[in-house]
Amino acid sequence: MENFIPLSIPNFEGNEEKYVLDAVHQGWVSTGGAYIVQFEEKLAAFLRVEKAAACQSGTSALHLALVACNVKPGDLVIVPTVTFIAAVNPVKYQFAEPVFMDCDDSLCMNPEKLRSFCEIECELQEEHLVYKKTGQVVKAVVVVHVFGNLADMEQIMEIAGQYHLKVIEDATEALGSHFTDGKYAGKMAGTIGDYGAYSFNGNKIITTGGGGAITAKNPSDLDYVKYLSTQAKDDALYYVHNEIGYNYRMTNVQAAIGVAQLELLSEFIQRKQKNYDTYQKCLKKIGLPQLLEFRQGTESNKWFYSFPIPKECAVEVRTLIESLQNEKIQTRPIWGLIHEQKPYQSDIAYEIEKAKEYSRCIINVPCSTNLTEEEIERVVHALQRQLEGKKEYESIR
Ligand SMILES: Cc1ncc(COP(=O)(O)O)c(C=O)c1O
Repeated sequence: MENFIPLSIPNFEGNEEKYVLDAVHQGWVSTGGAYIVQFEEKLAAFLRVEKAAACQSGTSALHLALVACNVKPGDLVIVPTVTFIAAVNPVKYQFAEPVFMDCDDSLCMNPEKLRSFCEIECELQEEHLVYKKTGQVVKAVVVVHVFGNLADMEQIMEIAGQYHLKVIEDATEALGSHFTDGKYAGKMAGTIGDYGAYSFNGNKIITTGGGGAITAKNPSDLDYVKYLSTQAKDDALYYVHNEIGYNYRMTNVQAAIGVAQLELLSEFIQRKQKNYDTYQKCLKKIGLPQLLEFRQGTESNKWFYSFPIPKECAVEVRTLIESLQNEKIQTRPIWGLIHEQKPYQSDIAYEIEKAKEYSRCIINVPCSTNLTEEEIERVVHALQRQLEGKKEYESIR
């Protein structure tokens, strides 16, 4: 009997159990304890930054970043439409409004369209970028490094600088991805903009069960972020609070798992990269399209692999996913575009074209760190079987 090949599952092959038991035995299970400090220090060292603040989820990290960027009700925040919805929802938590941007061929934000939106649809009024139609201030841009691929940060940072936009990098999927060439050579995803957000959700390259972290260009800004994440206590003994805070701090038990997972991170990245190469080799051998590539001049953590259904195949994404499921192989479509989701249909969507094309033809294929070569071959042969004989039909795109 063939085993089930899941899309992306966590891998606990290190000291996770040992450290969790240690945290429990010590009695530190809540938002204080040595593992949280250790996790922050080790993560910061990996990212080559001074400090990181651990929190409960990637979503809370993004929310805290928006608060720290002073995003207020009625402000506009530029966001991608090709992303998981958690990258956008925090904009609404702030009662601000998203402006949806198209992707480029990396699936990340299209910098040309970002520029033309700022140039044509907005005007600079002193230090503020103002959307001409409504007079709303465009405060920030949330850039998602989709599937571990880095966005074009050189262009995006240049545009953001010109138009006084704060940059929040959603590096939830890109822990360890970094630039190898250009202005940001050596810089990790999430350490270039004003703030960077990470996720340690169950399907991420390392996990804490649920968890997140935030970095800041100006490390002292993280003191404020930490203060907000722990209920904004101005006097912890007498319970004085001068601002609205959140219960967003990571727990020591989560951090204990995280410390063990950080010990495995470099190994996990290498496995993801190796498995990606194995997919490419197998796909090439039987004449199927290659997985989408990662940006030149970067080394990606290759978190998720994107298979493009060939143009000439008349197979629907849904049908292909179901057929593969019948072969005990779990795959998934790219996310439903966010500007088309019910809560966002009346928000501004700027010239969305490429995102629609990609959303119709990409599936993510299994990519867990414990995936074997034999399993990759099985996935590739299943893809071949499902796509065979579909070529003569009219293109669905
Ligand atoms: C692009 C993106 N942004 C935000 C998040 C939210 O992270 P979390 O699930 O830790 O809240 C995720 C992952 O879940 C994500 O993939």
